[in-house]
Amino acid sequence: MNKNFWKDLAAKGPIVALAPMDGYTDGPYRLTVRKTAPSTVVFSEFYSADGLVRSKHLAKEVLPHDGIERPLVFQIFGKDPEMFREAAKLIEASGATGVDINMGCPAKKVVKSGHGSSLMINRDTAFRIVEEMAKAVKIPVSVKTRLGWADDSLLVEFCQGLQNAGADLITVHGRTYQQAFWGKADFTGIYELKRHLSIPVLCNGDITDYDDGISKLGNLDGFMIGRASFGNPWCFLPGKYRPTLGEILETMDSHGALLVEKKGRKGALEARKHLVEYLHGFPGVKNYRTRLVSVENIEDIRTILDDIRKDWPELLDKVPDGSAIPRKFEGIENCPTD
Ligand SMILES: Cc1cc2nc3c(=O)[nH]c(=O)nc-3n(C[C@H](O)[C@H](O)[C@H](O)COP(=O)(O)O)c2cc1C
Repeated sequence: MNKNFWKDLAAKGPIVALAPMDGYTDGPYRLTVRKTAPSTVVFSEFYSADGLVRSKHLAKEVLPHDGIERPLVFQIFGKDPEMFREAAKLIEASGATGVDINMGCPAKKVVKSGHGSSLMINRDTAFRIVEEMAKAVKIPVSVKTRLGWADDSLLVEFCQGLQNAGADLITVHGRTYQQAFWGKADFTGIYELKRHLSIPVLCNGDITDYDDGISKLGNLDGFMIGRASFGNPWCFLPGKYRPTLGEILETMDSHGALLVEKKGRKGALEARKHLVEYLHGFPGVKNYRTRLVSVENIEDIRTILDDIRKDWPELLDKVPDGSAIPRKFEGIENCPTD
């Protein structure tokens, strides 16, 4: 893998990426997206740089991955340049395509510790982190950030500093730290940013599917989709692709099986929140969703999927109303990590 990875990819067409999402974009989620939409670049949930370096257990648990997950970028957070450097080396050794730095998380706990969004105001530390990592590894180093703290007036200057320090790609979530997840994502400042950088720039925020991303692309090199991919790995495909009920059930089966295979019982419990997201818009769906939130193992999951097949044979080759139709995400009460 080389430092030109992002530039080379951008030269082939818009970069389409799965956004990093804590508690979601683990190996099984990333594999499900890559199997459904093989051109997607997938980002991991964020991991503590210190944690990866200090606890060999964490690195052993989260870094090994399947070849078909690549291009795969691991995202890390922290504030200590040396820790970032060492964590980047571990990520490189895992065979991953790239390493991404979280400079956008607005969660109180994270910001209070000097991580995430607070790096937008502790710029010297932010630049040193990029510099240390860029010197230490051959894989590309990227940054995911926000428009700014309260507004986007410093975005260009900040990102030029990141580029000068050695960043190979920047993704901007079109909201400020203060907005957290409220209001609408605004890409105006990101289009302006691109005019001042030579590295690729991705936009992110409220994109519902591939076609929506293309319509908002402007002069940018690509986009990331996060929440709209819950239960909808088809959102990364062009043409507003809508799966049949049969395809949805097959994908639920393999997503659930991957979770159980990789994480055992914990995986089955995690499958609950993922699998309910897949089912929308056919009769009796509420009942199946209620059953899905109490599954304990793969057998429970398969029994429910088989019941749906038995109950609705005539719908298996039909597209359910509401399947893969982008759902609306209102402001999030308890702000997730970013
Ligand atoms: C549950 C959840 C967890 C998230 N975790 C991360 C994370 O670990 N790292 C990060 O950079 N952003 C994280 N984000 C922010 C997303 O990557 C993305 O920037 C945000 O959701 C806006 O994009 P969307 O409208 O396409 O979802 C998270 C968002 C959600 C909803």
